[in-house]
Amino acid sequence: MTLAIIGGTGLTQISGLRITGQQSLETPFGAPSADYVFGEINGKQLIFLARHGNPHRIPPHKINYRANIWGLRELGATDIIAVAAVGGIGPLMAPGHIAIPDQIIDYSYGREHTFFADDLQHVTHIDFSEPYSATLRKRILQAAHNSGIAITEVATYGCTQGPRLETIMEIKRMAQDGCDLVGMTGMPEAALARELDLNYANISVVANWAAGIVAGEITMAEIEKNLQVGMAKAVDLLKAISLL
Ligand code: HPA
Repeated sequence: MTLAIIGGTGLTQISGLRITGQQSLETPFGAPSADYVFGEINGKQLIFLARHGNPHRIPPHKINYRANIWGLRELGATDIIAVAAVGGIGPLMAPGHIAIPDQIIDYSYGREHTFFADDLQHVTHIDFSEPYSATLRKRILQAAHNSGIAITEVATYGCTQGPRLETIMEIKRMAQDGCDLVGMTGMPEAALARELDLNYANISVVANWAAGIVAGEITMAEIEKNLQVGMAKAVDLLKAISLL
């Protein structure tokens, strides 16, 4: 098994990762967001990619998800843990909290979302009933348990287009749809990983209450402050995962 981590907003680098190499890559779909970084945590090899580039500069709707995932497979990744900043919709999803979603609803649009667009000899409909790898989710849950990091084990992630945040009524509708979390990068990343038969799971770090859940505007300062706390926990979780 070769583990890859895709880091989102607030996680362009992993503290405690002993970096052993770095590689830029071109893919048939263009350039990935950044160089792939090779490193070790607790003596375990992993590949790291900063989803928004390093430094953070690519907005969610401009990310080349296909290149990112294709490159990871090219480098031999078999398992991908995606770390993502999200807004909290469900009552337990307070800023700083961590959830491991088990379902997704995709509200994004206009993104290059499949590897099966051009080869019309093989029209492929992947099964996506369970969008995240059960094995990889179990591993994350086990690591959280072992390290005493409080997480929510079942949650639905709603992926919006961004880069703007949502309206109050958009969040109300998402809550009615069953979404517990709202983010901008969960799709098409998860589906692309499935198309290439890679195990994929998501660690969602809550940066803020989603629009209208509590009174007041959502500020970048608040998001950044909460992410410092949340991403530190996510890194601890990644370290615990590497011990399994
Ligand atoms: N909405 C969408 N994506 C997000 C949010 C949000 O409130 N917070 C962090 N990523």
